[in-house]
Amino acid sequence: MKICVSCASGIEAVLKRELYKLGYGDLPAINGRVYFEGDYQDVAKCNLFLRTANRVYIELASFKAQNFDELFDGVLSIDWLAYTSKNGKFDVVAKCVESHIHAISVTQSITKKAIVKKLAPGGVLLENGERYRVEVAIVKDYVSVLLDTSGSGLHRRGYRALVGEAPLKETLASAIINLSVWNYERPFADLFCGSGTFAIEAALKAQQIPAGSMRDFDFLHWERFDRNIFDQLKVESLANVKQNPIKLLAFDIDEKQLTLARKHAKIAGVEEYIHFQKADMRDFSSQKKNGVIITNPPYGERLSERKEIEVLMRDYGKVFKNLDNWCAYTLTPVTDFERLFGKKADKKRKIYNGPIECCLYSMLGAPPKK
Ligand SMILES: C[S@@+](CC[C@H](N)C(=O)[O-])C[C@H]1O[C@@H](n2cnc3c(N)ncnc32)[C@H](O)[C@@H]1O
Repeated sequence: MKICVSCASGIEAVLKRELYKLGYGDLPAINGRVYFEGDYQDVAKCNLFLRTANRVYIELASFKAQNFDELFDGVLSIDWLAYTSKNGKFDVVAKCVESHIHAISVTQSITKKAIVKKLAPGGVLLENGERYRVEVAIVKDYVSVLLDTSGSGLHRRGYRALVGEAPLKETLASAIINLSVWNYERPFADLFCGSGTFAIEAALKAQQIPAGSMRDFDFLHWERFDRNIFDQLKVESLANVKQNPIKLLAFDIDEKQLTLARKHAKIAGVEEYIHFQKADMRDFSSQKKNGVIITNPPYGERLSERKEIEVLMRDYGKVFKNLDNWCAYTLTPVTDFERLFGKKADKKRKIYNGPIECCLYSMLGAPPKK
């Protein structure tokens, strides 16, 4: 099978590194996607372990189509029964980019019609069984038909049951942690922790708790998949969970956010490894050396908040100055962040936080002495 793993644009290199560590070699990444040949064992492995991927798919077909007849024939030619079942409930989503076919809803219904024709020649699919989410991506007249094995996006780890205001996605938080120099032997602080995503993701990584061990996946309910493969992988990986003696710091001035963050950490099973504190970032200091701050400060959506944010970023810079050889990784859309913070970044990387164009500013201290 051709497996396709997707990620947010800008973090392909991080996903590639994760896949490399999982034993997949040096794979090429194209426009937020990595492809490789694999089987259901790989589907299980990628869904369970990858921290920075958005979804794991099986690519069922790719072909050229400039009209709906060609699209219908291409979808019809897929051996749907080899992957799905006659009882399946099919959800089709589509996207069309720079192509002759550009009507999304028609693309979805043509695709569905072809699936129904293949699986139920009589014309009626009961759709009372397991779910199959099908993505049809048409880019420059080339169609890719993808079967989504994950179901809901992989950022839904299962610990953030409560959906508050659009916080940072878990997959993006994890990618930023992977981009940083942090490892569990170094102090960690998120000075604007909100719902706690950075600290929780860092603790999960430190203790090697698999990213997907708290959630369900669509492929687990498929007739073609032997659930034992996943259960065995999960049991083995949970047996390897560490109990490194870490205490990550997470500050926020908002008690409501902290209540949420503590709840998330508890569900994720990492509550004991994080010290959540209601505190102003300005009160942060540390005697420890070589710590790492990973954070995304408020950025002031309204113009009226701009002055306040400027003062906050200046004060954040002052707090950082008093730390001994710490590094700071700050995700923010504030374009003059370096000027306000009072230090040039050693590295800058453009990253989208949802629809918001941000930059990850990396300010590096000297590495710890061996
Ligand atoms: C953009 S949000 C962080 C979202 C977070 N990364 C998450 O995963 O939910 C910024 C947070 O900074 C907090 N904050 C604002 N001013 C602060 C200050 N002076 N000290 C500490 N936290 C502050 C806000 O309460 C808010 O929760």
